[in-house]
Amino acid sequence: MTEGKRAIAQAFSRAAPNYDQASHVQQRVGEQMLALLQAQPGPVERALDIGCGTAALTLALTPHARCITALDLAPGMLQVARSNDRQRRLAAFVCGDAERLPFAPGQFDLVFSSFTLQWCEDLTTALTEIHQVLRPGGRLLLSLPVENTLRELRLSWQRAEQRYQHVNQFLSRAQVREHVERSGFHLLQWQEKLDVAFYDNVRSLTRELKTLGAHQVVSNRNRALTGRKTVFKMMSAYEHFRNHQGLLPASWHYLVMLLQKPDS
Ligand SMILES: C[S@@+](CC[C@H](N)C(=O)[O-])C[C@H]1O[C@@H](n2cnc3c(N)ncnc32)[C@H](O)[C@@H]1O
Repeated sequence: MTEGKRAIAQAFSRAAPNYDQASHVQQRVGEQMLALLQAQPGPVERALDIGCGTAALTLALTPHARCITALDLAPGMLQVARSNDRQRRLAAFVCGDAERLPFAPGQFDLVFSSFTLQWCEDLTTALTEIHQVLRPGGRLLLSLPVENTLRELRLSWQRAEQRYQHVNQFLSRAQVREHVERSGFHLLQWQEKLDVAFYDNVRSLTRELKTLGAHQVVSNRNRALTGRKTVFKMMSAYEHFRNHQGLLPASWHYLVMLLQKPDS
């Protein structure tokens, strides 16, 4: 495992016990995906949830699949997920990487993945792996945040400090489309969405990102502690975004996609 992935796994493992209390945006995204799934033919025989987290969405897949496998990179997340499923034992949990799926070809009818593949080093690699484990005609229901997500925070950090990256860079919609085209999937549905969360102050937002495990910055991050002066500068820059209700917005731009592996 690369150093970057180890850091991501550690951040999410630490976040796991409190993740559900902070994952408001993720829960709203998940509800939209489940509504889309409702409109699909089913239930299918075998489904895989990639980046299952605490398994909140995994367990909601049960009306749609007879046999569910859930995979995550973070052992801490899997521990919470297993505990959430301990009474009904609806899913089989596996520790693994979306970019190196430990499954036989053609094993699944449906792959589901919400707000996870943005953590991969190369989206085409993850999509190609998913393509491989799906049977011909199998479907992938996917959501992921894209460019301009947390732009208010990124711009505020940029005003405070140019040298380092404090917020992850997300792929543009055009880049995601190229990755999808390269992976051999047919695109059945493509929805562009925006969810704006509001906070009283910047600390509430950064605390929530930390609780989610989503504060881990993948490249060009400052490895030393950021000075108080710089943090203060960032927080005053963020004030520029305060709205008429006196709240600070944090924007999540994301895609929901339904993809299909061709029949032959
Ligand atoms: C933002 S959480 C989303 C969890 C859940 N899908 C939800 O919507 O609540 C992202 C999850 O992806 C996992 N993850 C990150 N990179 C991964 C990878 N390369 N392979 C598998 N899981 C990964 C993290 O450990 C974390 O549990």
